[in-house]
Amino acid sequence: MEAESKSVEELRRALAESEQRYEELLASVEERVKEIAKAEFRAEMTRISSELAHDLRGPLQIITNSLFLMERKPGDTTYYPKIGEALKQATGLLDGFGEYYRGHEITLMKCNVNRLVEKSFEDIVVPQGVTVSKNFDPTVPDISLDLGKMRRVFTIVLKNAVEAMPGGGSLSVSSRVDGDRVVVQVGDTGGGISEAIRGKVFVAFGAKKRGCCGLGLAAAKRTVEAHGGSIFFETETGKGTTFTITVPIK
Ligand SMILES: Nc1ncnc2c1ncn2[C@@H]1O[C@H](COP(=O)(O)OP(=O)(O)OP(=O)(O)O)[C@@H](O)[C@H]1O
Ligand SMILES: [Mg+2]
Repeated sequence: MEAESKSVEELRRALAESEQRYEELLASVEERVKEIAKAEFRAEMTRISSELAHDLRGPLQIITNSLFLMERKPGDTTYYPKIGEALKQATGLLDGFGEYYRGHEITLMKCNVNRLVEKSFEDIVVPQGVTVSKNFDPTVPDISLDLGKMRRVFTIVLKNAVEAMPGGGSLSVSSRVDGDRVVVQVGDTGGGISEAIRGKVFVAFGAKKRGCCGLGLAAAKRTVEAHGGSIFFETETGKGTTFTITVPIK
C-alpha cells in the first residue's frame, strides 16, 4: 500500500515536472515565433524601402529635368503640369508607404459597417458609366473597428473596382452577417484580375497599374488582419471581380 502511494506521488511529481517543461518549451517557441515574425517584417521593410526609393526616382527625375529646362527658358510654363503630376505621384507613394507601414496600428471604436461603407463612397469618384447597387443588411450589429483605417480599406477596394471599369459597368456593394462575422462584398464587372498577378495583388509593390503605387491592397490586408478579419477575391477574366472583407463581430 505504502509502495503504491509512493509511486502515485512520484507520478504526480513527474507530471508536474513535465507540465513545467511543457510551459517553458511553449514560452520559448512563442518567443522564437515573435523573433521570426520581427525578422520577416524587417526583411519585408528592407525590400519595400528599396522599391520605394526606386519608384520615387522616376518622378524626382522628372521634376529635376523640368526645373533644368525651365531655368533655360524663363517664363515657359509648359512644364508646370508635368511637375504637378510628378509631385502627385511622389506624394502618393509616400502616403501609400506610410499607410502600409502603419496599417496594423489600430484604435477600436464601435461603429456601423453599413454607414462606414457609405462614407467610403465620399472618397471616390464614380464615373457616369458605372451604375451602383447597394444591398446593406440593416440588422448588421455595431462592431469595434478603427474607423479611419477601415474606411480606407473600403475606399481602396471601391476605387480599384471603379478603375477596373474604364468603359463603365456595374458596381455592387453588400453587407451581411455570417455566423460571428460581418461580411462586406464589393463586386465589379471589369476585366478581372489577370492570372499573372493574382498571387501578387496583396504584396506591397507586387502589382500596380500605370501611374498607381501598388500599395493599396497590401495596406488593406494588414489593416483587415489586424482586426482579426480577412480579405480575399474571386475573379473571372472578362467578367469581373468580387472582393470579400470579413470582420469578427467580437
Ligand atoms: N477590382 C479589380 N479588378 C481588376 N484588377 C484589380 C482589381 N483590384 C485590384 N486589381 C489589381 O490589383 C493590383 C493591386 O491593387 P492595389 O490597389 O494594391 O494597387 P494599385 O491600384 O495599382 O495602386 P494604388 O496603391 O495606387 O491603389 C492593381 O494594380 C490591379 O492590377
Ligand atoms: Mg488601388
